[in-house]
Amino acid sequence: MQILKEKQSLKNQIQALKRQGLSIGFVPTMGALHQGHISLIEKALASCDKVVVSIFVNPTQFDNPEDLKKYPRTLEEDVERIGKLGEDVIIFSPAADEIYGKEILSEEFSFDGLENEMEGKFRAGHFNGVGTVVKKLFEMVEPDKAYFGEKDYQQLQIIKKLVEKQDLNIEIIGCPIDREVSGLARSSRNERLSESQRQSASVIYQILLQVKEDFGTKSATELTHWVTERFKEEADLDLEYFEIANADTLKTVQNRIEGEKYRAFIAAYSGDIRLIDNIALN
Ligand code: PAJ
Repeated sequence: MQILKEKQSLKNQIQALKRQGLSIGFVPTMGALHQGHISLIEKALASCDKVVVSIFVNPTQFDNPEDLKKYPRTLEEDVERIGKLGEDVIIFSPAADEIYGKEILSEEFSFDGLENEMEGKFRAGHFNGVGTVVKKLFEMVEPDKAYFGEKDYQQLQIIKKLVEKQDLNIEIIGCPIDREVSGLARSSRNERLSESQRQSASVIYQILLQVKEDFGTKSATELTHWVTERFKEEADLDLEYFEIANADTLKTVQNRIEGEKYRAFIAAYSGDIRLIDNIALN
């Protein structure tokens, strides 16, 4: 395992690997690594010769300065964890000016409307920030394949759109959501939950499972009503949104169309900690 902090050393290293004909996988992260991240890295290692894991808490994608400040930073543990995965991983852990130069600014993107749904409605500028950093990282790493979790399903769709629009030769691989034993989707933010918050947060997945079960017999309106009422019973959780959307366009479902895929999405707060989850319905 190697740790690089400067983009020039990363680029040099990448060029050397490419000259040897080696394939490069890429797993971008914001650190505070958990088994969900590790599952992406393992998947990348299984089909690429070398895997770059970036660890960078990207300021431009946070719409809430408090959330950015409180975001867990555990570089030492992250490095130790990745060290156990063998020789073929390169960690890229840059400072903000390596990525952005002097001015930390977002580029403005159009992702053909994907950016206006769900997270886009509640986190102003979030996807411009994600697009900006991922585009810059793609330019530095020049990967053959890049791995993103379905945990952030809207982000995964947006990255696919970024690659299409920028005409990049990178294969985007979506990876399944890794969950705690309780069913709670793993997230770096879970570390901030108290034991009782953590227990009550597992209800989010139970609710998604129930929605999946009832999707065949109940309308989206009925299900949305049920979820809204169900969250009122949970003292520790505040629902921000529940949506059943087309899995490709992310548009809210109106009338179901035979052959189309749908997913249910939840964003909820436990105290000041924002949690998201989603599930394939068909
Ligand atoms: P971060 O939240 O650290 O997540 C890094 C990657 O791990 C993302 O692709 C995310 O979807 C995936 N991931 C997180 N939790 C997961 C889980 N429980 N199961 C499966 N995959 C999971 O997403 C970001 O960072 C940033 O927006 C980033 C893409 C790095 C740009 O800054």
